[in-house]
This record gives sequence, C-alpha cells and structure tokens, in this order.
Amino acid sequence: MPLKADTICRDMLVMEVIIRKNGEECGLVAARIVAKCLQEKEKPVLGLATGSTPLQLYGELIELYRTGTISFKECTTFNLDEYVGLDHSHPKSYHRYMADNFFGRVDMCAENINIPDGTAEDLRQTCQEYETKIEQCGGIDLQILGIGSNGHIGFNEPMGSLSSRTWIKILSKNTIKDNGRFFKDAREVPRHVITMGIGTIMEARHCLIMACGWKKSEAVKAMIEGSVTAQWPASALQFHRRTTAVLDEEAASLLSHREHYAWVEENMMPWQTY
Ligand code: F6R
Repeated sequence: MPLKADTICRDMLVMEVIIRKNGEECGLVAARIVAKCLQEKEKPVLGLATGSTPLQLYGELIELYRTGTISFKECTTFNLDEYVGLDHSHPKSYHRYMADNFFGRVDMCAENINIPDGTAEDLRQTCQEYETKIEQCGGIDLQILGIGSNGHIGFNEPMGSLSSRTWIKILSKNTIKDNGRFFKDAREVPRHVITMGIGTIMEARHCLIMACGWKKSEAVKAMIEGSVTAQWPASALQFHRRTTAVLDEEAASLLSHREHYAWVEENMMPWQTY
C-alpha cells in the first residue's frame, strides 16, 4: 500500500517531538492539533485524558470554542480511565473532572461522552462494552495522553502487557503516591481503576502525548529514546505509526537528540506544521 503523504516526513522519527518553553505554550500547540482534527473530520472521535497536564489544553479548547473557531457538537469522546468505586459526582472522580474542566464548558452532546464506569456492578462487562463502543464509533482519531513519572499511559502501570485492552487494573504504589496530591491523603486513592489498555491506545490513528515538569523527564527520556520495554509502558508508542510528543523544557531536559527534533520541526512542509 502506498504511504500516505502525511506519513512520509513523520517516518523520519519514531515520534514527532515538539518542545516548548512551558506548559502554557504546550497547551497552545496541543490545542492546535486537536482543532485541526476537529476541522478535518466530519464526526471526530477524541480520546481524552485527565490529570494536571491537559488542563492548559482544555483551557485553550474552551477558548477556541468561545470564539467560534471550533465546535464539539459532532464530536464523540472516550476517556482513558476512571477510578473503581468513586461515584460519578465524587470530587476526585474523572467523571467530575471532565464535567468541571471541559464538558460543562463546551457544546459536547451528553450522549457522545464516554467515560469508563468505575461504579458498574459488572466491571468486566463494562470494560468489554467500552472496547465494543470504541470500535462501533470507527476507532479513535486523536488520543490525548499524559505520562506518569513511572512511564504509565492511561493507568497502564509498569510490567503490564503492552498489548492489553480496556480492563480493571491495580495502581502501583508510585502512582498512588503521585496522585495522593489530588486527594486529602494518598490512603484515599482507590487501588483499582478501569483503563484503556496499551493495545487500545495503540489503535488510535494519532496519539498526542503531553508532558510538563522535571518530574516527567526520566519517563520522557525512556519513552522516546530508550528501549521498548514494559518497564516504561509509554515506550510502546515507539511502535505507533503517528505519535506527537509535546513537551516543555523541563520534561525534555534529559533528551539527547533535541537538536535533531528541532531541525525536523523547522523543516516540515507547511501542511505538516501545527
Ligand atoms: C489520566 C491518565 C494518566 C495521567 C498521568 C499524568 O487520565 O491517564 O496517565 O495522564 O498520570 O498525570 P498528571 O498530568 O496529573 O501528571
């Protein structure tokens, strides 16, 4: 099969790496990537992440919606993950996070929003139905991702299968400690989650992974320039056909090939830039 024009330049790198000064600038580039997807597709399907990293991006998207540049009316979304056992209205649930930080502030249709249900009576069935629904919607066009300091994407922790599907997973002690900052105490962080698997994420047509801050620098180095290994789940993205990493200076600080990433970005064809 002939290569699509869009793939040609990107095949020079395992990942397209965009480095910006700070989180605010990362949010601007990421929002342009999402906006491009919304404008190009008639019925776009977005995969969404929570946590602190995409907040700037959601802020920019809300702004673009307010100014009439983009609309989410035709858009379907699938969130990556949710804690098991937290009620949808729980202040720390990802249902609540999404309603407060994004869905409640744009023109998304409620029936097009999908978030794993961590309160379902039959969790295994809910996971299988989630996979089916993604398939029925034609797959994910653009998957937004953050990265854990241990290299997790979604809640796929180190040493899990790199071809896993949406399932119930156990958070690592490291993530429970990291996410303790969102709760009163790390002891309140649920130990179980539902998350799209690495295999599910790898089927998205485009992955957009964002990372900001020193704390992410080791995981970012392993993801982009290390070996592909279950010890750093995000490194599986080296096998993805189209991943864009948007990093701030701190998160990119351990990368060895920064000059090359900048060179590639400088020399992109106008239709490849964001
Ligand atoms: C959240 C998710 C996680 C986070 C990661 C980074 O939906 O899937 O993988 O993206 O834990 O979290 P922050 O951005 O809070 O550092």
